Amino acid sequence: MTSLYLSVNSDFMFLVMIGPPGAGKGTQAKRLAETLGLSHVSTGEIFRQNISRKTELGLRVKELLEDGTLVPDDLTIELVQDKIDQLVNGSGAIFDGFPRNLEQAKALDDMLLLHDKGVDLAPLINLSDSNIIERLTGRRTDKDTGKIYHLIYDPPPDNANVEQRSDDKRDTVLRRIEDYHQSTVPMLAYYDDRDLLCEIDGDNTIDQVTTALLEVIRGRVFA
Ligand code: AP5
Repeated sequence: MTSLYLSVNSDFMFLVMIGPPGAGKGTQAKRLAETLGLSHVSTGEIFRQNISRKTELGLRVKELLEDGTLVPDDLTIELVQDKIDQLVNGSGAIFDGFPRNLEQAKALDDMLLLHDKGVDLAPLINLSDSNIIERLTGRRTDKDTGKIYHLIYDPPPDNANVEQRSDDKRDTVLRRIEDYHQSTVPMLAYYDDRDLLCEIDGDNTIDQVTTALLEVIRGRVFA
């Protein structure tokens, strides 16, 4: 993994990380952002931060997130729109959990096009529905740093201040999986038709998935 880390140099790119809940989008997006010097934009994380700060946006989306229901497109797109100027002036970004349907994907393209930019690659981390439940029920997040752990696969240190996400209960997870199949899977063709989609097996170790992602990025974006 280390040699790959050293051989990928970021210039400017926009990546769209896609996958079912629990596939490892957040875990991998944080690693790639750090390695490639990109901004990490997780709409889910931004919503959760607003909920914990009790902002107006947080109060509007709290129940939706707790139920595992998608936030309406207009609110979500506005959230990204507010960040786009800052992102296009940096070295690029990894979007994690956005876009999540065709309408959001088209909105992102429109936003980027206004700045003569576009999506460079859309890695899709695949994970079977049966593995998703185990991943999400064992997930813990550090309240202070936001680092993601798993009780079995990536255990938190004893002194970590971890919590369980309120949408990681079994029933809520099942609803989120259904949403993924209904809303996100139909979006995949949008990226596949432009040869931007690349599938990664999420049922490997965290390091193996990172290596596979970096190989694909090196081969496709820097080729
Ligand atoms: P969001 O936060 O985006 O949740 P999600 O898409 O359901 O994805 P998760 O964060 O649950 O999983 P992940 O793929 O990031 O996996 P992770 O790396 O944590 O969205 C939450 C909510 O916000 C939505 O339900 C919706 O309400 C709203 N929302 C957000 N964006 C929206 C949008 N665009 N439109 C509308 N609404 C939106 O990994 C999971 C666990 O597995 C961890 O414990 C990790 O340690 C472990 N793990 C990871 N990789 C591996 C591995 N390879 N092997 C073993 N364990 C692993």
